[in-house]
Amino acid sequence: MLNISRPRRNRKSDAIRRLVRETHLGVNDLIAPLFVREGVSLREPIKTMPGVCRLSIDELVKECRELFLLGVPCVALFPAIEDKLKDQKASEAYNPNGLYQRAIREVKNALPELMIMTDVALDPYSSDGHDGLVDPKTGEILNDPTLEVLAKMAIVQSRAGADILGPSDMMDGRVGFIRDALDEENLMNVAIMSYAAKYASSFYGPFRDALNSAPKSGDKKTYQMDYANVREALREAYLDESEGADILMVKPGLPYLDVIKTLRDNTTLPIAAYNVSGEYAMVKAASERGMIDGDKAMIEMLWAFKRAGSDMILTYFAKEAAILLNE
Ligand code: PBG
Repeated sequence: MLNISRPRRNRKSDAIRRLVRETHLGVNDLIAPLFVREGVSLREPIKTMPGVCRLSIDELVKECRELFLLGVPCVALFPAIEDKLKDQKASEAYNPNGLYQRAIREVKNALPELMIMTDVALDPYSSDGHDGLVDPKTGEILNDPTLEVLAKMAIVQSRAGADILGPSDMMDGRVGFIRDALDEENLMNVAIMSYAAKYASSFYGPFRDALNSAPKSGDKKTYQMDYANVREALREAYLDESEGADILMVKPGLPYLDVIKTLRDNTTLPIAAYNVSGEYAMVKAASERGMIDGDKAMIEMLWAFKRAGSDMILTYFAKEAAILLNE
């Protein structure tokens, strides 16, 4: 009776490992975040995100076509707005002919079957670098006045061709507010992927370089969540679900797999993980220095999101991963 149960039998060969595999990773799981800027034929590298560029709209369309041909179902667009267009009211955010809306229109025209996810938050357009409006006297991030701006953004983005809106601002009540605003405009087919559990995180550093969007003063802790908390993530998730969210996101990803798992166990909605810029930069930096095998670490990391219970992953690795997964 020695050792009747030998788990290694189920790991003996590649074939048995494939048979007993519990979770799967494929191109259908990937959403590619991309950065857009003004200009023509420009691919401007982002120092803190090796391999990622700010793309002019024509280059963005090319990149989207490559992703589409690789089988990636969705791209998530983020705009690098010129400083001169930023103000305290983030008024460029809902300019129907602004960079972002033009980019959405061109990608949608060129590739109607590729899904476009957008970002709904003020930080790329705000001279304060915050996701909401700032009270100039007190520095407070104003919740309800911000909702009005978010709703205007949601409408212009949807009219430009967005399929999924991603409110990433963490204001209270924004999912319901945006849903109502969309439905009133007959935009009921536009979906909302709420950044339900978005933590105040140092892992967003490279992204803020990419958009030059770091807060000018203070931090984001009065709206983004405290990384010590997980019950609070459930509370946010329940609220967003009740307000009409179609998909719930957890962000960052890798240090928050427990949060993904908790949401998975408590909702029937699809779950997305955001494998954020700092997580990407860590793998790239270690692999450039020969400390780890970057490709293998990337796939293992993406797989961990699936194991934790995510249905989809926003990741700057989308293209590289899609190429490997298609092999
Ligand atoms: C801002 C926003 C951020 C990210 C996506 N939307 C940064 C922040 O909250 O400061 C981060 C994404 C990443 O780091 O990859 N609304």
